[in-house]
Amino acid sequence: MEKTVRPENMERITTKALAEAFIENQVKEIREQVGDKKVLLALSGGVDSSVVAALLIKAIGKQLICVHVNHGLMRKGESEQVIEVFGRELGANLIYVDATDRFLDLLDGVSEPEKKRKIIGGEFIKVFDEEASKLEGISFLAQGTIYPDILESDGVKAHHNVGGLPEDMQFELVEPVKLLFKDEVRVVGEALGLPHNMVYRQPFPGPGLGVRCLGAITRDRLHALREADAILREEFDKNGLAEKVWQYFIAVPDFKSVGVKDGKRYEGWAAIIRAVNTTDAMSATIEEIPYPMIHHITNRITHEVDGINRVMVDVTPKPVGTIEFE
Ligand code: XMP
Repeated sequence: MEKTVRPENMERITTKALAEAFIENQVKEIREQVGDKKVLLALSGGVDSSVVAALLIKAIGKQLICVHVNHGLMRKGESEQVIEVFGRELGANLIYVDATDRFLDLLDGVSEPEKKRKIIGGEFIKVFDEEASKLEGISFLAQGTIYPDILESDGVKAHHNVGGLPEDMQFELVEPVKLLFKDEVRVVGEALGLPHNMVYRQPFPGPGLGVRCLGAITRDRLHALREADAILREEFDKNGLAEKVWQYFIAVPDFKSVGVKDGKRYEGWAAIIRAVNTTDAMSATIEEIPYPMIHHITNRITHEVDGINRVMVDVTPKPVGTIEFE
């Protein structure tokens, strides 16, 4: 297949006015392409699929059917935000599938990282496929492919994202942001009225918290990780670091250590803070989080999150470490 190429003279979308012109033009093109037919979209709540959803809702309203699969490995509040923004505020035709038990049951006892990824990716496709087959009259599949996806791979957002879709789906593609770079997608998202924190959020791997709940995932440790991660994100936000730092998160390994609470010894997990900066994720440097902030986060996590009695900070750059732990 011939590769899509961004025209050399295409202006960078850096302002609201340019974004509005892009939106107007895309709305027209989408309406021309789709006519009165129906379009299906896997809406993860990430920047790209969210912007595509908002664009399509503007262009074709209820002819767009969004499917949000909650694999149980989302961060705290993420699925709720998808339902709130797209279901309630934008009035989208949204199918919400809580597949938490399916995913966690399949992952039970599985500790090998690539096996975990395979299970999560494979099950995602299965769930999406099942939902798609319940629907009638779908002619198009919308995707949040962006220009770097085309430059880096074969043009569809399948690389190592969960969100790679069944190859045998016989749909024509609608990819309205495929010529845009990430920063442009964000400007377009803001012009479409999407929440700032949704449009400017840090990258989040497709397998989600699944690769941060290290080793074999257990529900109680996953819950502790999600709560600790929410505290970290809240503190980064409060301290103005949320949009400055490329990626910041908590990982919780599958070992316990001894702590003391109310004069008694007890065993708990460790939460590891990782905060890195990079431009392309191929190499990364460490964000030097101020110590008073680390103390405060440690205090909050160890007091507010059941099961965690220790907080550590990972200061390993990439290389030699990778950004994620598995
Ligand atoms: P590493 O850990 O390889 O990560 O240094 C580089 C970037 O890729 C993200 N990452 C993933 N993204 N599916 C994804 O969609 C994955 O399986 C996956 N593994 C890593 C990671 O978060 C970082 O931004």
